[in-house]
Amino acid sequence: MFRKLAFCTLTALALSSGGAMAAGGAGYVEDYHFSFEGPFGRFDQNQLQRGLQIYTEVCAACHGLQYVPIRTLSDEAGPGIPEDQVRAYAEQFFVADFDNNQHLLDPETGDLRALTPNDNFPVNNTQNAPDLSLMAKARAGFSGPFGLGLNPLFRGMGGSEYIASLLTHYNGSEREEFGTILYGNDTFSGGYISMGPQLFDDMIEYNDGTRATEEQMALDVAAFLMWTAEPQLMARKQMGFTAVIMLTILSVLLYLTNKRIWAPVKARAKSGQSPAE
Ligand code: HEC
Repeated sequence: MFRKLAFCTLTALALSSGGAMAAGGAGYVEDYHFSFEGPFGRFDQNQLQRGLQIYTEVCAACHGLQYVPIRTLSDEAGPGIPEDQVRAYAEQFFVADFDNNQHLLDPETGDLRALTPNDNFPVNNTQNAPDLSLMAKARAGFSGPFGLGLNPLFRGMGGSEYIASLLTHYNGSEREEFGTILYGNDTFSGGYISMGPQLFDDMIEYNDGTRATEEQMALDVAAFLMWTAEPQLMARKQMGFTAVIMLTILSVLLYLTNKRIWAPVKARAKSGQSPAE
């Protein structure tokens, strides 16, 4: 009975870790180092700001971030951009507002209004590009070693590694399928992706003077997308650490209490009396 149970558990484990890997793509994922990995990992605010710059100047042309409120850009645990700059940032996007009957609310001003920090980032799926808000959580880079799923504890689950690898591992091959050009990519599952290479050395100039190499930009935007997917990551890690300390202290106290409670019984047992007397 026990053996059967152990066997089933092992099989289930093997299957589930295999499934997680398949979801992360069969392809190659490089194990980049990010500042927010490990139990004490923290976001690097400068990196998040650079990532926002890449998203805005490159990715936003096709990808939306529809689940991310723009005002969160000023979060201390996030990019930490001053509120007036966030307001100015929001105003570069325009949307049309509709009432419940799908009539334009403001037909006079050309139907569009600028976003405010209280809006979310715009929806965008040009060329069927998926929304990136939760992409870093939807893709796993690795779960190993040996599919045991231990890696996430020390390195995170690797969604940001997956994104950075995806952006930097185009292999130059191309093929056409039903009129769409597909680009060879060593990370994307299946090996061909309909998104062309996006990042080229020095294609933008960083506001903070960092040199914009292809890899640097990929890492920065991947870190930024990790933040959009999990803005409370630092709070979660801190809370986890506090909980572990509290539970450790509690265990010691419980151990001592337990000893104290049973001490008279043990003493009696030692002196030869039975506990029932
Ligand atoms: C010209 C439009 C375009 C631009 C610009 C663009 N993408 Fe994409 N992206 C796409 C399309 C289209 C897909 C869907 C690809 C597919 O499924 O074959 C995609 C897919 C993705 C995926 C999902 C891959 C997966 O595993 O499903 C990620 C991540 C991604 N893009 C990140 C980025 C980042 C980061 C940038 C900015 C550096 C960017 N993209 C810029 C069009 C674009």
